[in-house]
Amino acid sequence: MLNTSQIKKDFPLFTHHPDLVYLDSAATALKTQGVIDAERAYLEEYSTNVMRGLYPLAETATEKFEMTREKMATFIGAKSSSEIIFTSGTTDALNLVSKLLASQIEKGDTLVTTAMEHHSNFLPWKELAKTKSADLHIVSLTKEGMIDRESLKKSIDEHTKIASFSAVSNVLGTINPVKEIIALIRSINPKTLIVIDAAQAVCHMPMSVSDWDADFVAFSGHKMFGPTGTGILYGKYSLLETLPPVNFGGGMVLDSCAEDTLYKESPYCFEAGTPNIGGMIALGSAIDYIENIGLQNIHLHETTLASYAIEKLKETFGEDISIIGPSKKEKRSGIIAFTLANVHPHDIAGILGEQNICVRAGEHCTTPLHHSLRLSATTRLSLSIYNNENDIDKFISVLKEIQAMFLNK
Ligand code: ALA
Repeated sequence: MLNTSQIKKDFPLFTHHPDLVYLDSAATALKTQGVIDAERAYLEEYSTNVMRGLYPLAETATEKFEMTREKMATFIGAKSSSEIIFTSGTTDALNLVSKLLASQIEKGDTLVTTAMEHHSNFLPWKELAKTKSADLHIVSLTKEGMIDRESLKKSIDEHTKIASFSAVSNVLGTINPVKEIIALIRSINPKTLIVIDAAQAVCHMPMSVSDWDADFVAFSGHKMFGPTGTGILYGKYSLLETLPPVNFGGGMVLDSCAEDTLYKESPYCFEAGTPNIGGMIALGSAIDYIENIGLQNIHLHETTLASYAIEKLKETFGEDISIIGPSKKEKRSGIIAFTLANVHPHDIAGILGEQNICVRAGEHCTTPLHHSLRLSATTRLSLSIYNNENDIDKFISVLKEIQAMFLNK
């Protein structure tokens, strides 16, 4: 296990709130001192624009901004930094890729997604299908909350243009075997463009977009200890170089006149306007931090702690608790969603919050999943490198008090 008392020192939020039990990292991860320092340094010392200025301060900003692109390419196993498009987050990245691919969709084509998706990886495809009179196929899940292979096979055919699914579910905690699923889709229709929502995977386990052989991968910087308003769309360069831009403005043009416009190459033609410069520079510091700890170590820490939490929850609440998602621990990430008999998830989260314990309750932007599970809400804890067994013990002890409170009503 990681040395969490040492790690907590890297996150200034714990200096301000020493007793806080933060179990909501799937919503947003806390920020390291390095990330905060990097963003502050940009704002205080060289807050100039990128790609435009010819004076030293602007050159420094451009250099550091582009350094994050280089680091990110290596971090996720991309072949080149030209494959890394800066966005404001996963939602922005998934909306962007749906717009980039829109011109390829015609009436009668099929788009495929799954029943476990976050709204960000469901609504862009649903809207695209509606606009183009295409069909949207939703792959169903097994009882254990895994992608059902038979349903997937039935959903893919010669009409399939795009298939999009998450690497890790933000509610079930399911770790999808991305490489295998991509290979399965391609074995049925090799032309299918495959998009991966990696928001809940990116700083929780080793991953390589090249090894997956995904066409596009979207994720957020703020879930990997970076600032909010930062995200990435990875795209294979061989595809990106064929796609026309969909957002227009400054920074993406080589030459323009009334008749014609010559756009820059990827990724710049997809990044119109002034970006989140300080945020992206700070995201570079988050990458350094994660690499220093090691993704394998992070994965082991979070999954070991998740197993501890699940065992403790079952031991303490027996049949009163229902934990959704895979039962096999090797299929689960550090995300645990549950219902507790007779207590509404919003009451649980509210009372835990009063005791300095942060969890999320509700549908977690996965209304279709909650509908299919016939649940109106769940309570979710999501783990990160700063959590330890003490956090879990405190959470369970307060949850027990909450249960007693409601039983006595
Ligand atoms: N997508 C984030 C979550 O699952 C916000 O909480």
